Amino acid sequence: MITHRNLLVLTSAVLATVQHVGAQILGCDELGCPVASGTESCTVADKTFRHVGAASVDIPDRNNVSIGLSWVKGVSSKAINGTDSVQYDQSFYLGTPPGFELHPSAGCALFFHDISKNIKFNNSRDAPLPYAEGTCQETTMGPSCVSAVIELAQMAFEKVTPYDSCELLEETFASIIADACVGSLINGGNWSPYTIKNLHKASSKAPISGEQNATSDCWPVLPKNHDLRLIESIKRTGGSDQATEDDQFYGITPILTVLYPTAAGEISLVNYPRAQLTCLKTIKTHAIMSPEGDESRR
Ligand SMILES: *[C@@H]1O[C@H](CO)[C@@H](O)[C@H](O)[C@H]1NC(C)=O
Ligand SMILES: *[C@@H]1O[C@H](CO)[C@@H](O)[C@H](O)[C@H]1NC(C)=O
Ligand SMILES: *[C@@H]1O[C@H](CO)[C@@H](O)[C@H](O)[C@H]1NC(C)=O
Ligand SMILES: *[C@@H]1O[C@H](CO)[C@@H](O)[C@H](O)[C@H]1NC(C)=O
Repeated sequence: MITHRNLLVLTSAVLATVQHVGAQILGCDELGCPVASGTESCTVADKTFRHVGAASVDIPDRNNVSIGLSWVKGVSSKAINGTDSVQYDQSFYLGTPPGFELHPSAGCALFFHDISKNIKFNNSRDAPLPYAEGTCQETTMGPSCVSAVIELAQMAFEKVTPYDSCELLEETFASIIADACVGSLINGGNWSPYTIKNLHKASSKAPISGEQNATSDCWPVLPKNHDLRLIESIKRTGGSDQATEDDQFYGITPILTVLYPTAAGEISLVNYPRAQLTCLKTIKTHAIMSPEGDESRR
């Protein structure tokens, strides 16, 4: 017999499933990380994360076919011995299809850090922070800021440039302020702190090997045969209070991905600069139940 209580449980299970259809950011639920004794974790090579999130990067190649890139974010925390402080590690991996070859195109990634107080998802899904997800257009940054950032990035590579031209991105963002981003990515007249990584250098190195993958209990990318490379890792020391944890675990990191040709011609992956802004955060697993049987919020 279906009791009222069971029906409620059933209804929320169905709702939870429906929410995942078309999700922009995948968490452990969809990626199949192990969920044991009420916590989730995901080990990638030498790092074990408490939560992960993965989003695809929709940049098309010169034939207008999606290249199939994705970004993966993993966050872990560990107590600093002898103090009340916690060290948080936010790591970012680039997911690429098997045999991916960026050469003779090149690329850069710009990561906006520490802006979780300025940028939130404000879409109609209206999920609690641990589950909130969407696109950059669906954040308080708004679509006009997203367009402005993409335009700035593509403008930086207007002319065909050689490899290792990521400083063009640096110069552009250091000198041009986009009015549309004031209050979100721009605070007190400056862009929020960012780091820039050279994707050409990173992708010319071997991805995390199958051997390392075999010892991982989780390979947080879809399709599963895609490779992962660690691109960026930032560590922050903070308290173990809820607000700091929320910031560190569930804050949004906008990642600007730019691919550009280094020579004119047919052989290049892209034949003009292509940029995309991805708003990445980790997503908590819905299935985790607290000992009382209620869905736990963290
Ligand atoms: C590229 O593909 C997208 C859909 O995948 C389509 O909407 C768009 O019109 C295409 N653009 C060109 C120039 O073919
Ligand atoms: C923590 O610090 C104490 C004293 O400083 C030391 O005895 C202990 O081994 C340390 N623990 C770890 C895990 O480093
Ligand atoms: C979200 O915030 C942006 C920027 O403030 C705004 O343009 C947009 O309309 C908001 N969306 C919703 C659904 O409130
Ligand atoms: C990583 O391991 C998973 C299974 O754990 C497998 O499906 C996938 O093909 C592997 N991917 C790579 C790139 O080795």
